[in-house]
Amino acid sequence: TDLFLPERRNSCGWDLAHRPTLAAVEQARTAFVQAEWTAAPVLATDAPVATPRKVTNPANPEETVGEVTFATPETVSTAVTAAQPWDTDPTQRRRVLEAAADLYETHYGEIFALLAREAGKSLPDAVAELREAVDFLRYYAARADAEPPRGVFACISPWNFPLAIFTGQISAALAAGNAVLAKPAEQTSLIAARAVALLHEAGVPQSALQLLPGEGDVGAALTSDPGIDGVAFTGSTQTAQLIHRAMAENLAPGAPLIAETGGLNAMIVDSTALPEQAVDAIVESAFQSAGQRCSALRCLYVQEDIADGFTEMLTGAMDALKLGAPWNLSTDVGPVIDEEARQGIADYIEAARADGRVVKELPIPGRGHFVPPVLIRVNSIADMDREIFGPVLHIATFKSRDLDKVIDTINATGYGLTFGLQTRIDDRVQHVTDRIHAGNVYVNRNQIGAIVGSQPFGGEGMSGTGPKAGGPHYLPRFQSRTVDAVTG
Ligand code: NAD
Ligand code: ALA
Repeated sequence: TDLFLPERRNSCGWDLAHRPTLAAVEQARTAFVQAEWTAAPVLATDAPVATPRKVTNPANPEETVGEVTFATPETVSTAVTAAQPWDTDPTQRRRVLEAAADLYETHYGEIFALLAREAGKSLPDAVAELREAVDFLRYYAARADAEPPRGVFACISPWNFPLAIFTGQISAALAAGNAVLAKPAEQTSLIAARAVALLHEAGVPQSALQLLPGEGDVGAALTSDPGIDGVAFTGSTQTAQLIHRAMAENLAPGAPLIAETGGLNAMIVDSTALPEQAVDAIVESAFQSAGQRCSALRCLYVQEDIADGFTEMLTGAMDALKLGAPWNLSTDVGPVIDEEARQGIADYIEAARADGRVVKELPIPGRGHFVPPVLIRVNSIADMDREIFGPVLHIATFKSRDLDKVIDTINATGYGLTFGLQTRIDDRVQHVTDRIHAGNVYVNRNQIGAIVGSQPFGGEGMSGTGPKAGGPHYLPRFQSRTVDAVTG
């Protein structure tokens, strides 16, 4: 399959360095600085729902952003029965999804405000997220063809890319002609509801796209319903394992699970690396989006010979980070998603502090669910038993002769999402990239981000089933032709 579709272009986005564009963006999002939104199940038929609850801003829990009414496990079977695959020709599906992409772009002010106020996203993160969502819509629309769909797909997504990943899963399933039951993360239902409203406004029929906001029990009910023909899931490895089991017990044999999951991502910095470049890349990879990216750097390996000076540069760069409300343009690190996440990360840091392993930490900026960036010493990545989903970076040193052992230890975690390398030795780039098991490898740059259509994203091992999102093999998994062996 062609990776590049010459007739399709990615969104040109919003250049925040261009003053008139920034002014327009500021004006557009300011109109929504006090808005309140609602989310509720959007169903093709009536069904029972739960009692509404308040949604607040992670940077300021006293600020109300809206109200959400969750679905319940009982809502699920009614929605599955009412689902109807999108039985129209591919040209029409393409047109509607392209119209949805246009609507997403038109509503940029509202979307940037919602991403900041419900999900704690900075403006640059929100711009990147909207672009990626739009790119997914247009990319999968361009690939719609006459192959038959699987039938009814459950799309279950995380809160950390509440628009891009939510939209990516749905747009691929819809472009293929499936009916979609979308279960967004419980923390970001308002964004999901707005996205679904725009997709319906563009012309996606209600019976082909239903929204089931809710907690994990709604996802569990969906993935156990025999009326489901396939599941697209992005979230933690633990949840993917539960879903895998539920599907094996309840769904027809062969129903595909497309899972994109967590990682224990490492970067190796050798003594030939450009220190300024490496420090910038590390700070972005570990702390941008408050470390709440599956791709984020979790364990940094620095060659022993340069470790002291390099660590000093890195901690100096951490000192320059500005923590605060994501709405402020000067903020580098915003809040984590909610109090439960903050408490879990704070407990982890406290244990490291008690062991005397904290190398550097920053002060807490004030109210809100903030975790200041922290650097923790470890002997190796093997000391980390799980993904800590926040601005927590671990640092280890290695001797040059042990490089292969380090790579083997990273591979032995069983994860394989992203990996970074900083070196000026060309042969080493080849050697390390040949040996490392990771879906996305980044050399002499940061190790976060992906580009729909040219840099597809996805992990291997415990980090994902493949195929990669935003790549040519993704959409065919939502169709009934047999391509199950393809993982690229
Ligand atoms: P999560 O696994 O807690 O939740 C993800 C979704 O699954 C939510 O909608 C949740 O309600 C639902 N869910 C929970 N229990 C369920 C169950 N038993 N059955 C079905 N659905 C259930 O993950 P999260 O905290 O929302 O997101 C963070 C995780 O996602 C991190 O591990 C991160 O690495 C991963 N992630 C991976 C990628 C990737 O592309 N590989 C991208 C983003 C996030
Ligand atoms: N593609 C997303 C990132 O890299 C998941 O951060």
